[in-house]
Parts: sequence; structure tokens; C-alpha cells
Amino acid sequence: MQMDDLCIRFGFVEALKHIHLDIRQHEVLAIVGDNGAGKSTLVRILSGLIRPDQGTLLWKGRPTSIPSIRVANQLGIAAVFQGQDFCDNLDVSSNLFLGKELRDRHHRRDDEAMRRRTRQVLQSLSSPIRVGQPMATLSLGQKQTVSIARTLLDNPELILLDEPTASLSVMQSAEVLNYIKRMRSEGRSILMVCHDLPDVFAVSDRIAVMRQGRLVGVLPTAETSYETVIALISGIDPEDVIQDQEQLDAMARANARVHALRGTRKTLPEQS
Ligand SMILES: Nc1ncnc2c1ncn2[C@@H]1O[C@H](COP(=O)(O)OP(=O)(O)OP(=O)(O)O)[C@@H](O)[C@H]1O
Ligand SMILES: [Mg+2]
Repeated sequence: MQMDDLCIRFGFVEALKHIHLDIRQHEVLAIVGDNGAGKSTLVRILSGLIRPDQGTLLWKGRPTSIPSIRVANQLGIAAVFQGQDFCDNLDVSSNLFLGKELRDRHHRRDDEAMRRRTRQVLQSLSSPIRVGQPMATLSLGQKQTVSIARTLLDNPELILLDEPTASLSVMQSAEVLNYIKRMRSEGRSILMVCHDLPDVFAVSDRIAVMRQGRLVGVLPTAETSYETVIALISGIDPEDVIQDQEQLDAMARANARVHALRGTRKTLPEQS
């Protein structure tokens, strides 16, 4: 997927300004940036939810328009957004096929076929979730797994994930990152918007940094550092970032001592 000169504005806000970016085959491309940088807007354009004011999309080298989620799915593009709704009273398999239930020759709902396909998809992720498990019994991380599994039903080539590890525990995040690696090893491309730099460094091949609607850098993950990425996100000099990081560390240590002295178990504020 290649994006050429994408622009979009919402009223006075220029959410995307002349974005040129490509997503390669078999890669995990992470998009990072501060709040309001335009990351979700980019994902929403690629997933068919909104259309750019300007610019072109090339899919496999051909100019393409993505006017709807359905068209995106037909092209082989599937997206997972945050807080996707599930029917808590239904089981995993029914939730996976919500709105696109499989039918048999007599046009009857084919639960067995849906369970079989669900099992297959969950196995491809090596997930221990059972197909008949009621949705209400799943943890947040497991629900995220079901969201990801749902995108795999149509065997997409490009998967778009907007903050896939947000609000997950450390273990749950690690699991989701494993799924992402697994999907890449199956030959899929993954675009992942993510706030969490350790997650980004753990799984991505390249990191695209956005600031105030602009793409300010695309870096091969193996050849870059936290400092460089933070500097690009914030637009300040890497030297200053290192200083700030030291200050943050010092503050965190001081904070830890205070809590240790008080005997509380309060967690430290997150550094981001
Ligand atoms: N539908 C909309 N109507 C008006 N403004 C919008 C709309 N969608 C996004 N924006 C604005 O466009 C800018 C980019 O928003 P976007 O959601 O893409 O940012 P983001 O990088 O995903 O931020 P976050 O990290 O907070 O999720 C923001 O200033 C936002 O307020
Ligand atoms: Mg967003």
C-alpha cells in the first residue's frame, strides 16, 4: 500500500498534511506520535471509514479508492479499532461471525462451520481461547485476541491495528505482540498505531513518526533509538530528550523511595 500526498482537514484542523508513506509486504510498520498527530485518521482512511480530501492510494501498484469497509475487506485490508463492541451473551464463534454468519445450502445458520473456522483462526494465532466460551468470561486481552481473530476471517493481506495494546496488562500485551509477529510470519503486512515505545521496538520493522498531521520521519527499527524517536515525536533536540529522560528517571527513583518509606504500594506514574 502506497500513500501519496494524502491530505484531510476537519474544519480548521489539518489532520493530515501531504502524507507520503508505503507499507511493505511482510512488515510491521508502527505509527507513533503524540495525541492528535493524525495517526487514527490515517488508519481510518486506509480502512474505508473516511476519504481523504486530496492524494492517492496505490494498492499493489494500482490507484485505488477505499470508499467503505466492505471495499477495504474485498481488497484484502482489515482493521481493528479500540473498544470494538461484542455481544457478551454470545460465544466467541458467534461474535467472530457477527453480521456475516455462515449459511448452509438451505440458507440456515451453519454454527458448525463457523465453529470450525473460528477454531482454525484461533489455532493460527496459537490462542488457547475456546470457540464456545461466552464472551462475558473473557479478559480484556482475550477480547482483543477475538478482535484480531475476526480480521483474519477473510484472510487479509494488510491488517490495521489502532492501539492494539492500549489498556492491556504486560502479559496480555506480550501475547498480542506475539500474534502480530505470527501474522507477519504468515506473510501479512501490519500497520500498528501504538503509544507504547517498548511495544513498538519489540515488534516493528519500521517506525513512522507523525507530528501535528505531518510525517516527520520513517526509521528502520533496528537502526534507531528511543531518543531519536522521542525527539521526532516531540520535535525537540535528542540531547534535550536524554536530559529529560534522566530527570524523569531521577524523579521516578525519588518517588519510589518516598512510597517505600511510607510503606505504600502505589505504582509510579507511567513514563511516556
Ligand atoms: N471527525 C473529526 N472531526 C473533527 N476533528 C477531527 C475528527 N477526527 C479527528 N479530528 C482531529 O484531527 C486531529 C488528528 O486526530 P487523530 O484522531 O487522527 O489523532 P491521533 O494521532 O490518533 O491521536 P490519539 O493519540 O489521541 O489517538 C486531531 O486534532 C483531532 O481533533
Ligand atoms: Mg488515535
